[in-house]
Amino acid sequence: MAEIRLAETAGFCFGVRRAVEKVYEEAGKAAGPVYTYGPVIHNEEVVRDLEKKGVRVLHSEEELKDLEEGTVIIRSHGVGKKIYDICAGKDKVRLVDATCPFVGKIHEIVRRESAEGRRILIIGDASHPEVQGIRGWSMDNTDIAASEEEIRGLGISPCNSLSVVAQTTYNSKKFIEVIDKLKNLVYDIRCFNTICNATQERQTEARNIASEADAVIVIGGKSSSNTRKLVEICREECDNVFFIQTAEDLKPLTLTSFDRIGITAGASTPQNIIEEVQNIVRSEF
Ligand code: F3S
Repeated sequence: MAEIRLAETAGFCFGVRRAVEKVYEEAGKAAGPVYTYGPVIHNEEVVRDLEKKGVRVLHSEEELKDLEEGTVIIRSHGVGKKIYDICAGKDKVRLVDATCPFVGKIHEIVRRESAEGRRILIIGDASHPEVQGIRGWSMDNTDIAASEEEIRGLGISPCNSLSVVAQTTYNSKKFIEVIDKLKNLVYDIRCFNTICNATQERQTEARNIASEADAVIVIGGKSSSNTRKLVEICREECDNVFFIQTAEDLKPLTLTSFDRIGITAGASTPQNIIEEVQNIVRSEF
């Protein structure tokens, strides 16, 4: 029988788990309709399951503006101040804030620094909802850049007073490099390393597990970029890496020849799928 090692960091991070639990909790107790502002996680099965429990997804600010009553849950990515203001203007709308506390901390930094009149630079992906939410806590003088090249295009001058934050999932090494360059350019700079290490820890553990395993199973959505990254890391360490979405995908696989099998999962893979996969692997291989 194979030795199975399941990554402790497989699946939801703290912030996502907390948000998903809040949505299930609200679905079970709220009297009126329950909405999430954007899908609570990028996992179709979870979103479908929540739909069955009556939870609907609001896709835009306009949909929120049209809403007359119900509970609106803010997901872990967080949102800009405007969304709180829209909800506050509606008597029959109750807001449940499941913003990850680490993201909430960035909102507070940006609000405070921006109120002091400082220019804000967010290092991250401008199209990501987390980054858009962060931007929504600053005054106008805010830039977003994902790379050194993009920063060069912003025209930041030595006399700017600049405060820099990062998207929580930004690469730590790249952030340090960018900050080093900026420190040479700007006299008055405040840097806040707001990167969350949940992603980093999941990747480091995946690498360790893969380096000691004969085969690794990575569970997650095909379109999930963080899961694909886990697959890539595991492939650097191990020749037999299987990328599956659900326990169903285990069927065609023959794992009997492996003595040590590692299992990990992307950030939006629910615990029940991880457990199901683990149980099948433990009982059949
Ligand atoms: Fe997750 Fe919150 Fe970090 S959502 S990745 S624990 S910032």
